[in-house]
Amino acid sequence: MKRIRSEKGLRKAIWAWRKAGEKIVFVPTMGALHEGHLTLVRLAKKHGDRVVVSIFVNPTQFAPGEDLDAYPRTEKEDARLLKAEGVDLVYIPDPQTMYNVHHATSVTVGGVAKGLETDYRPTFFDGVALVVTKLFNRVQPDMAIFGEKDYQQLATIRRLVEDLDMPTKIIGAPIARDEFGLALSSRNAYFDETGLALARKLNGIMKRCAADMRDGQHVDTATDAAKAALLAAGYSSVDYVEVRSPNSLTVLEGGYLNGPARVLVAAHCPNGKSSVRLIDNFAV
Ligand code: PAF
Repeated sequence: MKRIRSEKGLRKAIWAWRKAGEKIVFVPTMGALHEGHLTLVRLAKKHGDRVVVSIFVNPTQFAPGEDLDAYPRTEKEDARLLKAEGVDLVYIPDPQTMYNVHHATSVTVGGVAKGLETDYRPTFFDGVALVVTKLFNRVQPDMAIFGEKDYQQLATIRRLVEDLDMPTKIIGAPIARDEFGLALSSRNAYFDETGLALARKLNGIMKRCAADMRDGQHVDTATDAAKAALLAAGYSSVDYVEVRSPNSLTVLEGGYLNGPARVLVAAHCPNGKSSVRLIDNFAV
């Protein structure tokens, strides 16, 4: 596995593969890799000839109050895991070369990127869209894999690619869950035993909400019940429980299920003296 930090080195490797007619599949990450990321890598391997993974903790998607420095950095272990999966290249750009002192360009996505997460993290998807645009320009992948766990992010990237005519096919990867239904996430590492048990209740509550909708309940009734169930279980607060159309992320017309939909949740799960903000979603 090549481990490359320079843009020049990256372009050289990509160019050689392109010249040989090989299809390049890209998996962007912020590192601190876990089994969920590895499922993205395995999916990438199925789709192309060469798999490129980036590790970059992107400062532009952190809000001023969020601690960029505290984000886990486990490069050595990440590289070991990626090598074991047969990844061809791991790209670890230097933050100074990604955003040099003259950087003055932003990327803003509307539509699907508005509401839900941006009600709580207003600049998050602008930061994601910017870094993904830059990484796509550097890697020039034929395909890129994003997890459905960050469902609104996936929808935002699909919009970005279509609107800016980027020649990269976006592939969504199903959510990897533990045996109790908790979506795998770097944040799960922070949980103590009690926190983990509470976090694992989220999946059942989303399933109940989906079942209530399928049984003919109004969206508001089903989502209110889900919010109440989360709070009753011990969650400290619920940012949102929403049911949206799976592609446009618009609210359901008439307030009742009329085809496929997605339950989207963000809630704060107490853990010791603090709490962990969980986001998850479930197909209806
Ligand atoms: O989902 C993530 O890990 C990040 O938002 C991404 C897509 C790698 C951009 O920094």
